Parts: sequence; structure tokens; C-alpha cells
Amino acid sequence: SGVITLDPGYKNSGSCTSEITFLDGELGILRYRGYSIEDLAGKGHFLEVSYLVIFGELPTATQLSHFESNIRKYTLVNEEMKNIIDGFPKTAHPMGVLAALTSALTAFNPKSVNVENEKEMYEAVCKTMGKFLVIATWTYRKTMGYPLNYYDNTKGYVENFMHLMFELPTEPYKANQVVIDALDKLFILHADHEQNCSTSTVRMVGSSHAGLFASISAGVSALWGPLHGGANQAVLEMLEEIHRTGGDADKYLDKAKDKNDPFRLMGFGHRVYKNFDPRAKIIKKAADEVLATLGVDDPILAIAKKLEESALVDEYFVSRKLYPNVDFYSGIIYRALGIPTDMFTVMFAIGRLPGWIAQWKEMRENKEPIGRPRQIYTGHPLRDFKTSDNR
Ligand code: CMC
Repeated sequence: SGVITLDPGYKNSGSCTSEITFLDGELGILRYRGYSIEDLAGKGHFLEVSYLVIFGELPTATQLSHFESNIRKYTLVNEEMKNIIDGFPKTAHPMGVLAALTSALTAFNPKSVNVENEKEMYEAVCKTMGKFLVIATWTYRKTMGYPLNYYDNTKGYVENFMHLMFELPTEPYKANQVVIDALDKLFILHADHEQNCSTSTVRMVGSSHAGLFASISAGVSALWGPLHGGANQAVLEMLEEIHRTGGDADKYLDKAKDKNDPFRLMGFGHRVYKNFDPRAKIIKKAADEVLATLGVDDPILAIAKKLEESALVDEYFVSRKLYPNVDFYSGIIYRALGIPTDMFTVMFAIGRLPGWIAQWKEMRENKEPIGRPRQIYTGHPLRDFKTSDNR
């Protein structure tokens, strides 16, 4: 009843109250639970930041080691999950496989979690963090036709990611600390971002009291799109194309400005940040450092910098307040770390997982009602039905 307000894309609607992430789009501020992203990415580690995002406080040393060991306990994935992976063609996109595998976890962990039971919720969090990392890397092993790896209990969570991805029976993998530190930082920068498309999806699906794995699987699908997390893959493909076709960045800026051309400058613009994306600032600096430390001289970085410089003084981008976002430079680092391009969005998903879990948990703890927006009907008025011989 009453007047329905139309707000396509929910540009001006708050869907919930939340204590997790504070974001000021005008000032370019991002904080998790009151801690600045600069501090967290500079001094924190991914698992302690995940704990913070999910449970609200930074863990003590004991809480952190308990958290790590509980996650480790849950990294074994049911062997029958391998049958599901086997059913996919090698060419399947890892994000599609990840969504399917996450959904399949519901079948192997059918008991729904009681959010009011602290212990049950804690176990569910650890189980999700443990299994998701492993299946995320399995999507890549599948595309390569490699045997699947298991979590190595002697290594940390982020180091395990590299080991799960790259260790071969014939070739033990020794991860470089620079690579691990860079990944850790990237995961932290992705850990939460209030009511973005995938998080809103997780909350929406969970609001019907669907389980945690089912809700997160929906979040993976939402993240996949090129306007959201899929942008990191799209950015790199765009930069590679510019490089391949002679390096003319301005031509692509013109294409992005042309309203008859659907092309958008990938990695530019943001629904909320209208000044700069604080994550992009940190990532750009990290990209410079990582490339220098690893001794990588990537021509793609020069193209990215040229694009950014030109766009930042171009009337089209300036007047619309379009700035580089988190996805603009992340792919350059992933590439330098040896991550294949079609795994970039999976990397985003691993980083965003604590945020999805935290938001799902908060939504259920706050006893939010089922998400059910209204609409304004613009179709036909009542019509008479004619049988097919009279149409
Ligand atoms: N290239 C060219 N024009 C753009 C771009 C772009 N990347 N982004 C926005 N615009 C234009 C848009 O055409 C519109 O112009 P006009 O007012 O003349 O119609 C104006 O800027 C406002 O754009 P909008 O589409 O109404 O803004 P939105 O808030 O709905 O969309 C966005 C935000 C991020 C989806 C969009 O900026 C975009 O498509 N960017 C490229 C994809 C991308 O990098 N996505 C990653 C987002 S950040 C991390 C994440 O969420 O994963």
C-alpha cells in the first residue's frame, strides 16, 4: 500500500543498516569495523582482517591461531565433489565452475546453521573459509588438466593459495614472500565493500533463509559480471588488446566516450566513489613495488598509466567523476604474480568471501525481513484471452 518509489539500480535506497563497512564516496574513505583500509592493508593480514570483518573485533593472538587451525580443519573437501568438477569441460570459465561447486557444497553439508548459536556459526564460518579456498583453486587445476591439490597444514592460508594453484607432483612449488605479501594485501582490499551487487545478492538470497553456501554461490554469480568483479579480467583483456593493436590508448578513450559505442573504459567509474577509489590508490602503489621487486617490465603497466593520465584530464571523465577503481590495477599485479587472466575474478571472490559471510551473518542476526522490492507495472491493461485458432 502507499506510493511506490522507483529507484532503478537502488542508487538512492539503503537496503539495511550495517556495522561492518563505512564508506564515504566523496572523500574516498573506506573502513572495516572502524579501521582504515590503509592501516589494515599496510599492517594487517588477511585472516585477521577476515576475523575482524566477520566477528567485529580484531582477534587476539589466541583467537587468531584458533581461527586458523579451525579453518585448516575444514579444508578437506568431499571426494565426490571431484565428480562434479569432472563433468565440466576444461574450457569452462572458472567463475561458473566456482559458483556450481559452492552450490554443490550444500549437498555435502546439508545441515543449516543456526545463527543464534555462536559455536555453530563459528564452525560454519571456518568451514566456508576453508573449503572455498580449496575449490576456488580447483577450478584452475581443472582448466589445466592438473591433479587436484590438498591444503598443506604447514603453510598459512594465503601461501596455501599459491601452493594449491601451482604445486605439481613433479615440481614442488616454493612461493616467493613478495608474492604472498602482495596477495595478502589484495585480499584485504577486497574483503568487504558494503552493499555492492554481489553482497546485496548474498543478503537477498539469505533473506529467504536459504543457507550460507547457497547464498554465497549466488554472490559468486553476481560478482562474475564485467560491471562488477569481472571487470578485473576485462581490464587486462582491454590493456592487452590496446598493446596488441599498437598501443593507441586515446583511441580507446574515444570509443568509451562515444555514446553509440557500447564500449566502456573497464576499471573506470564507480557507483559510490566520486573522487577516487582508496583501494585503487593502494593497489597502484603496490603494483609499482611488486613489478620492481620481481623485476617485471610489463608494457601493459605503461598503457594503464597512459590511459589513466589521459582520462583524468578528459572533460568526459572529469564531468562524470569517473576515476580508476579497484579493478584497474589489480590485474597487473595478478599477472606479475603468474595468475592466469580468467582466474582474476576468482581472486576477487576469495578476497570478498569474509565480507559475504559477515553480511549474511549480520542480516540473519538482525532478523531482517525477506528482501522483496516492489515495482511499477508498465504492461498491458486487462486483455481478453483468445484461443490459438482465433489469434
Ligand atoms: N566508461 C565510459 N563511460 C562511463 C564509464 C566507463 N567506465 N562508467 C560510467 N560511464 C558513464 C556512463 O555512460 C554515464 O554517462 P551518461 O551520464 O552520459 O549517460 C555516466 O558515466 C554514469 O554512469 P552510470 O552507468 O550511470 O553509473 P553507475 O553507477 O550505474 O555504474 C559502474 C557504475 C562501475 C558499473 C560503471 O562506472 C562501469 O560500468 N564501469 C566499468 C566497469 C568497471 O570497472 N566495474 C568495476 C567497478 S568497481 C569494483 C567492482 O564493483 O567490482
